[in-house]
Amino acid sequence: MVHGDCFFMLVLFLPLACLLEEASAENYLIDCGSPGNTTVGNRVFLADSYASKYLSTSQNILGNTSVNTNLQLYQTARIFNGTAKYTLPISQKGRYFLRLYFFPFVYRAYNLRTASFTVSALPYVLLSGFTPQGSPTMKEYSVNVTSKNLVITFAPAQNSLAFLNALEVVLVPDMLIQDDAKLINPSGNFNGLTSRALGTVARVNMGGPTVSYENDTLWRTWVPDDSYLENKNSGVAVQNIAAVRYAKSSLATRDDAPPPVYGTCRRLNSEDNPSANFNVTWDFTVDPGFQYLVRFHFCDIVSTALNQLYFNVFVDSGIVLPACDLSTMTGGFLATPIYFDSVTPSISSNKIRISVGPVDVNQNYPLAILNGLEIMKMSDSKNSLDGPGVVLPSSKTSSKTEVGVLIGATGGGVSLLVLAVLLLIFCTRRRKKLTQGHSKTWIPLSLTRGTSHTMGSKYSNGTVTSVASNLGYRIPFAAVQEATNYFDESWVIGIGGFGKVYKGVLGDGTKVAVKRGNPRSQQGFAEFRTEIEMLSQFRHRHLVSLIGYCDENNEMILIYEYMENGTLKSHLYGSGLPSLSWKQRLDICIGAARGLHYLHTGYAKPVIHRDVKSANILLDENLMAKVADFGLSKTGPELDQTHVSTAVKGSFGYLDPEYFRRQQLTEKSDVYSFGVVLFEVLCARPVIDPTLPRDMVNLAEWAMKWQKKGQLEQIIDPNLQGNIKPQSLRKFGETAEKCLADFGVDRPSMGDVLWNLEYALQLQETTIPDDPDERSANMIGDIPSQVSNFRANDASVSLIQDETTHVDDLSGVSMSKTWETM
Ligand SMILES: *[C@@H]1O[C@H](CO)[C@@H](O)[C@H](O)[C@H]1NC(C)=O
Ligand SMILES: *[C@@H]1O[C@H](CO)[C@@H](O)[C@H](O)[C@H]1NC(C)=O
Ligand SMILES: *[C@@H]1O[C@H](CO)[C@@H](O)[C@H](O)[C@H]1NC(C)=O
Ligand SMILES: *[C@@H]1O[C@H](CO)[C@@H](O)[C@H](O)[C@H]1NC(C)=O
Ligand SMILES: *[C@@H]1O[C@H](CO)[C@@H](O)[C@H](O)[C@H]1NC(C)=O
Ligand SMILES: *[C@@H]1O[C@H](CO)[C@@H](O)[C@H](O)[C@H]1NC(C)=O
Repeated sequence: MVHGDCFFMLVLFLPLACLLEEASAENYLIDCGSPGNTTVGNRVFLADSYASKYLSTSQNILGNTSVNTNLQLYQTARIFNGTAKYTLPISQKGRYFLRLYFFPFVYRAYNLRTASFTVSALPYVLLSGFTPQGSPTMKEYSVNVTSKNLVITFAPAQNSLAFLNALEVVLVPDMLIQDDAKLINPSGNFNGLTSRALGTVARVNMGGPTVSYENDTLWRTWVPDDSYLENKNSGVAVQNIAAVRYAKSSLATRDDAPPPVYGTCRRLNSEDNPSANFNVTWDFTVDPGFQYLVRFHFCDIVSTALNQLYFNVFVDSGIVLPACDLSTMTGGFLATPIYFDSVTPSISSNKIRISVGPVDVNQNYPLAILNGLEIMKMSDSKNSLDGPGVVLPSSKTSSKTEVGVLIGATGGGVSLLVLAVLLLIFCTRRRKKLTQGHSKTWIPLSLTRGTSHTMGSKYSNGTVTSVASNLGYRIPFAAVQEATNYFDESWVIGIGGFGKVYKGVLGDGTKVAVKRGNPRSQQGFAEFRTEIEMLSQFRHRHLVSLIGYCDENNEMILIYEYMENGTLKSHLYGSGLPSLSWKQRLDICIGAARGLHYLHTGYAKPVIHRDVKSANILLDENLMAKVADFGLSKTGPELDQTHVSTAVKGSFGYLDPEYFRRQQLTEKSDVYSFGVVLFEVLCARPVIDPTLPRDMVNLAEWAMKWQKKGQLEQIIDPNLQGNIKPQSLRKFGETAEKCLADFGVDRPSMGDVLWNLEYALQLQETTIPDDPDERSANMIGDIPSQVSNFRANDASVSLIQDETTHVDDLSGVSMSKTWETM
């Protein structure tokens, strides 16, 4: 028996082993049935004879036609009267485009117009009972190949034929299809795209001409949108291809769509009608019973300034992007390509309707755009993209493949084995990284849950006075009026999205800041509640304390401790205040980092600030930093979903690009924003400055450019020139750089950031004789022993000390009760 098996392996699979050793191709282009190579554009489709080694079939029937299609690839075909298989060795696992070319013609006794067959790319069924109609057609799929071979099977129905004119298998960049998207109706996150096969239904260039495969890095063709438009008068075509500028990091790349796609759009036809209140709508015919991946491509080539364009995006009746604001999503750039993925529920009709429309007729000029759209059918739970499949892998086929590799590896292909092992290690690490990013579970905070605790002895006699007792102190409106001299306009110390901030003095002489919300905004009320709730639970010396609130007469008033020195931002630029020293700046960054670290870790579930910026870092009379403005804070997606809108919030220039793309909120979004603050502190300039030359507009990009060149000192605040020790600057720059990593998983935690900033401070204050290179290696994530020593020497900056202080801060708060709520 054993002997028999070995014989079986050697005789049957040695050829396969040789094949595997030789194989290194990532792409296969085959002109089936063709006697010679065929050049299309700059690509060569191989003559059929070069591909026959991949093919297992009982019969070689090569057909040709004199019907001139003007398309070379369709002139010949391979005809199958029984099941046939292409086994294509895959050297690099990942997603591949499969393009199948069909043109049914009559060749001798074979009438291809009557062909009916099933095509599968194991384990996916691509086509079932398929009969190609009249004209040349190309079917495009993409599948994630996770084994060593891609096996494409053609199985004719009984007494029928199968055929293929050409075959294209092309590796897709890993980033093209990411794992998650926004799920529509009910809204939520969809995970698991990488394991789905996709079939292209439509790929459209809105408001522009056909973009041929020659102008697309992945040989895709984009068709004009006219034939899909429901009402041709609803939208106008706009073109400005020269304006398109891809962002250096994140967002969309040329692989996502080429400039001719992003540089044209269909814009709501509101020119003659400033009160236009209609959508631009496109209809697409689809197969019912499947989910679809709908990818929207945007690039704001219509606005003349930031924040002019707000619009809604719909798939059928579901809203995908409410009040979509492209300038915020792109981090403050016009004409910057970006795309957005959404997944539909299983479609019950044979139509998908896509609309874009104005947000609010009364507030903004009605405008809406769409530059490009892709609709891709997703394989169902049976791995099918069509009806049921008939071809199943025989168990023998898969064992053959394994054996082939083993023989290949021992037969001199050791390098192949090494490669496989490396690949495996790489893949495992990557997967691990990804799951780390997703493994957080969240619980929502609830306004009715929780204990009543007091707000701290400093401001009260320690009793709870409010009806909504866990929300802190309710202060009578009359007292607020008195404290602010009846909302004296000359007492205004700040104006924000929420409303005005007044300084004030309470009856007992306590100086306070009084934030009075604009009562008309509903969203404001949600944020008002959030902030009370957050601030009531979080007491920390580096978080601004809430003293009380007032909700009488529909007022939304929050009363905070007064921060004598205002915002960090005002000390950096624009207000003429004296420049801060490097040590002061580091102390402030360290303080703010502590506050955020506490938000992320101090409660049972991480709390994400969502609007970290220099204007939300306040300074007390001793320039001690406190993080303020919790209006946007979230504990996670659950809370998010109870809100009407899941629109991306935050501030320009600080917004984590990954948050927009993946709609996944993690602490790492705060880390990103904090990284921007670090550069702001170093360079003392606004994070977005549209008056500067284009490459300087966005501070994060600009600073990263110099940091990567190792010349950060070129762009620092002139007031700091010569006053920062090179090692301290280097540590600081590295820390900021890591915060700005494209992917959240690659960013340090706030705790790591804190350690590194403390270390940068040590480097500034201590003379360190040895090589700074050694020392600064691997600081993120792993603390060299030298640092621990520093920390022991200077307890005042240690984290442990901080925790103790935090407990002090809670004087008057019953710790046991606080913990009971968790
Ligand atoms: C066809 O292309 C292959 C691969 O590029 C090449 O090796 C072969 O010589 C070409 N054959 C002809 C007839 O040009
Ligand atoms: C098909 O190919 C054969 C052999 O190359 C050729 O003789 C014949 O003319 C071709 N037929 C058509 C219809 O093009
Ligand atoms: C395919 O066609 C050949 C003749 O060209 C015939 O010998 C063979 O039996 C056919 N196979 C099937 C499965 O019909
Ligand atoms: C392919 O699937 C594997 C396993 O599900 C996954 O780890 C990998 O990231 C996927 N690759 C792509 C390019 O989608
Ligand atoms: C497509 O590319 C060709 C050259 O490869 C160029 O001449 C043409 O203008 C491009 N078309 C568009 C729409 O950019
Ligand atoms: C736009 O389309 C959506 C979805 O079909 C619909 O709910 C909305 O009312 C439309 N807006 C206008 C202004 O017609």
